[in-house]
Amino acid sequence: MAEAGKGLEGVVAGDSSICFIDGDQGILRYRGYAIDELATNATFEEVVYALWHGDLPNNAALADFKKALGEEMSLPPAVIDVMRLLPKDIHPMAALRTAFSVLGNLDPDAATADKKADDLVTARKIATRVQAQIALLVPAWHRIRTGQPLVAPRPELSLSANFLLGMTGEVPSESAEAIFDECLTLHADHELNASTFACRVISATLADIHSALGGGIGALKGPLHGGANTAVMMMLHEIDREGGVEAADAWVKNALDQKKKISGFGHRVYRTADPRATRLKILAAELAKSSGNSKWFDLSRAVEDAFNKYKNLPANVDFYSASTYTMLGIPADMFTPIFAVSRASGWLAHVLEQYSDNRLIRPRARYTGSDARSIKPIADR
Ligand SMILES: CC(C)(COP(=O)(O)OP(=O)(O)OC[C@H]1O[C@@H](n2cnc3c(N)ncnc32)[C@H](O)[C@@H]1OP(=O)(O)O)[C@@H](O)C(=O)NCCC(=O)NCCS
Repeated sequence: MAEAGKGLEGVVAGDSSICFIDGDQGILRYRGYAIDELATNATFEEVVYALWHGDLPNNAALADFKKALGEEMSLPPAVIDVMRLLPKDIHPMAALRTAFSVLGNLDPDAATADKKADDLVTARKIATRVQAQIALLVPAWHRIRTGQPLVAPRPELSLSANFLLGMTGEVPSESAEAIFDECLTLHADHELNASTFACRVISATLADIHSALGGGIGALKGPLHGGANTAVMMMLHEIDREGGVEAADAWVKNALDQKKKISGFGHRVYRTADPRATRLKILAAELAKSSGNSKWFDLSRAVEDAFNKYKNLPANVDFYSASTYTMLGIPADMFTPIFAVSRASGWLAHVLEQYSDNRLIRPRARYTGSDARSIKPIADR
């Protein structure tokens, strides 16, 4: 048996036509389209369509897709009821995990004993519903935990606008919507990252879409994956308390001296630059300029400069998304759920691809335990 490195590093675990990454050159493409071109020239809805169908939509296909998403923009009251029962101070990703699971139980097309999960026509219908609903579910939890009334979705608006509307109760400005929309595009897919791999493993058992994405939500929660964006903001707050830009170098050096991993840097695949971080840095700079408040951007740059003085590792997608979301007025613990709203599109693309040409995913482990031995009577152990 061929052996895999720790953490399956460098292992090619399957074929996929969804996402291309060249980690040495810092290239990321969805369906052949370069990420920075998608971010600046396509809406998130167009990107989701491309991820699921292979090509960007024409006008008619996009209109149909947006109509279908709009028709799915509602949450069953029972999901809201369950969310209201949850403790208000739990991690928003834990709330999402629970609420999303309830959503699966109430889905009118969910697989049952008679309905197969991998019926592709139904799976695509569920995917559209899931994408619309997850963009409502995350802000709904924020409103519930902060004791605010829920905001009715506006099906004629984009997913980005509905997300921000659901958070704040106000239709966002065009520029806020556009920046947020770009953020969703930048996070939408990333080949076999940990959460997407989890989704593929689960869907390859022919379990249903909600089970697969439930696994993805769980994997994304961790600080080595999607949880890193929240951790970046916590770090920026800490450095700010210790003196801000002036304190950045000493803080970073001290953390590295203690062999700590600094969130927002390093990547399993990218060696030079993470193209998503490059684009997010531009967005953060634009927001700092337009808002007239560059505090978090300046501090982020100081941390990046300090980090690169000591370690030759690139900033990753989570680094500048933290200051970007903060400047959009979003609380730090909601950053990872936003990642889930976006990455759901990639998870769904991979689940659909898995269903369309499935084989159970079942690798082997190299056994490192004890040799065969006999069982001693319990009194002698
Ligand atoms: C993303 C990540 C999990 C990739 O991990 P990985 O491929 O297993 O890489 P390793 O943990 O083996 O790191 C390789 C080396 O770089 C160092 N390194 C990697 N990321 C680092 C970071 N963020 N801060 C400091 N050192 C880091 C490791 O300490 C290790 O150094 P060593 O060889 O001297 O021991 C890792 O870079 C990390 O933990 N980053 C911070 C969390 C984060 O931002 N996650 C979001 C990713 S999009």
